[in-house]
Formats: sequence, C-alpha cells, structure tokens
Amino acid sequence: MSKTILRALAGETLPVPPVWMMRQAGRYLPEYRATRAEAGDFLSLCYNPELATEVTLQPIRRYGFDGAILFADILLLPQALGADLWFVTGEGPRLSTITCQADFDKLGRGEMIHDTLSPIYETVSRLSRELPEETTLIGFAGAPWTVATYMIAGKGTPDQGPAHALKDENRPLFEALIERLTEGTIDYLSEQVKAGAEVVKIFDSWAGSLEGEDFDRYALAPARTITQELKSRFPGLPVIVFPRQAGDKYVGFHAATGADCVALDDSVSPDWAAEHVQVSGCVQGNLANTHMVTGGQALVDETRRVVQAFSKGPHIFNLGHGITPDADPENVQLMIDTIRNG
Ligand code: CP3
Repeated sequence: MSKTILRALAGETLPVPPVWMMRQAGRYLPEYRATRAEAGDFLSLCYNPELATEVTLQPIRRYGFDGAILFADILLLPQALGADLWFVTGEGPRLSTITCQADFDKLGRGEMIHDTLSPIYETVSRLSRELPEETTLIGFAGAPWTVATYMIAGKGTPDQGPAHALKDENRPLFEALIERLTEGTIDYLSEQVKAGAEVVKIFDSWAGSLEGEDFDRYALAPARTITQELKSRFPGLPVIVFPRQAGDKYVGFHAATGADCVALDDSVSPDWAAEHVQVSGCVQGNLANTHMVTGGQALVDETRRVVQAFSKGPHIFNLGHGITPDADPENVQLMIDTIRNG
C-alpha cells in the first residue's frame, strides 16, 4: 500500500510522517482566490463539482500533500436539513436559528439531505478519479455539537453561549437536535464513502467548551456512534476525530470512540501528547498555524520538534487548526521541506 496516510492510520510508524493541512485549499493561495472569484461566492463554489474539485487539487499540485480533503463546509448539512445558510463576507456564516420546538420541527430528516448534497458526492467521485494514486482522499463532516452551536446561535459565537443555554434550559430539545445531527452525519458521510472518500474526519471545533458529563454525552458519545455505525457499514474504514481543545480529555479518546486517529490542536504539547494519547493509536497534528504567517527559523524548529516528539508511533503531520488567509504560501513549502528533508 503506497498511500502513506492509510499506512499511518493502520498503525504503522513511518520514517517520514505523511502531511496535509486543515484548510489547505483556501484564501492564502492566489489560485484559490481566482477560482472563488469565478464561482461568485463560497457556497456556489462548494456546490460546483468542477470548481470544488479544482480547488481541492490546487494545494496537491503546488505542494504534493499526502492527503486531499474534500472542499465543502460543515454547515452544508444543516442547510440540507432545511436551515437557511449564507456567508457574510469578512464575518462568517449566518443561519436561521433554533431556539424552540417549532424551529426544530421545521427541519427534515433522512434521505432528503441527499437532494441538496448530491453535488458534494459528485465532487468526491471526481476527486477519486483525478487524484494522484499516492494521495489519500479525506471526506469530512462537523461533529453534532459543533454544528449545533452554529444552528442554535445562527452564527459563530466565542463561547458557544446560546448552545449552552439551550442545553441547560431545554435539554430534550437540545438532545433531539444532537440526535438528528448524528443521524444526518452518518448518512452524509456514508454517501461520501460510497463516492470514494477513503478516510473520514469529524470536526468538533468547539468540543473544548463542553465539561464533565456534557463532554461525554455530547462530544464523545456522538463521535462513538458515528464512528461505530460507519465502521459497521464500511468495514475497515479509517476514522479521524478532532475534539479540538479537549486538553486532558484527549486521553482515552481513541478507545472510547473506536476512532483510528485523534487529531490534536496546538494547545497540548507534542511530548505530552506522545506519552498520553499516541500510546493509544495514530495522532494527527499539531503545529501552531501562526507559524504559517511568521515563518523563519521558529517554523523550522517547531516543525522538527513536532516530528521528533511523535517519531516513535503512528503520526500524520498537520497544523493544530486551519491555515489562515494571511499565511505566506512559501512558509507552507518550508514546513514540508523540513518534514521531508529533516
Ligand atoms: O480544510 C479544507 O480545506 C476543507 C474544506 C473546509 C472548509 N471548512 C472550507 C472553508 C473544512 C474542512 C471546513 C470546516 C469548517 N467549517 C469548520 C471546522 C474546522 C474549523 O475550522 O474549526 C467550521 C467551524 C466551519 C464553519 C465555517 N466555514 C466558518 C466559521 C467559516 C468562516 C470563517 C472563515 O475562515 O472565513 C467558514 C468559511 C470557509 N470554509 C472558508 C473555507 C475555505 C472560507 C470561505 C471563503 O472562501 O471566503
């Protein structure tokens, strides 16, 4: 098997870790900005299989990353369930809110999501034909809690306050939403796999704001349900989970969910994570994305430190969070050269 990401996910310790980058297709690349301008707006780009395939391939051509992540967004699933979704330039996503039972009752379920999401499956199937044979195709979805935080508030929030409030004030409604999203995520990811995704990743960007039992119920349990159901439908499918900013709660996350790989943000030290998380399976991460802006010797030193810390077990090199629009494309090349040439 020549796909290094699949080898690491199967538990192999490689002499040079495979590498890809969250948001590797994005605004820091001039070729992305050009294709995005051609598409009109971000959502039109997501739903255009030809252009979404093109932007997914751009960072592969430029850098030869070992993995390609489908170009889409975690908020397409709520849209497919019936929420209104739009993006305000310079601010981020906006959705119709969910604050009461009547809002929830307007959402659909089950097979209906595929009417909206079929162009995404078309992008996956084009990519699986067009990618170089050594490049692993990664599908993804948001985790139920993270997606729920956007659906409840109708936008991104610094502390996920509205979602915590609904959870505390109307737990049955909150849990019904988590359950609906869990089912929808399984159906969405299943179609991505049927179309050719070789790995799936579940992004729980706001997992870190769940504490105690809430973390177990709303971050860990849905990740386990999604992972196990996908693995029963598609035996051998590797799953990456990303409970961002889980801190100490990263420990045991492989075993508790059955996932093959736990992705780490940069708030945990690589040495600590090697000792406490990588012992249980493959890890992904965790260079601070700010190095892609600042570059220089610090980038080289930190890249080496991450590679070295995780060198005794299965590791996929990545950033701790997505690359930002102000990053310098040359710094990405410097990171890759450092990983591959030492
Ligand atoms: O990683 C990739 O290259 C694959 C594509 C991808 C996007 N978003 C494209 C995107 C993936 C995996 C995501 C995940 C995503 N989307 C998350 C989870 C990961 C994370 O970053 O925490 C979240 C929370 C979202 C929701 C979202 N989408 C927000 C909050 C924003 C606005 C912030 C921003 O960066 O502008 C987006 C927009 C978005 N999603 C862009 C891209 C390339 C920028 C849109 C543009 O071109 O204007």
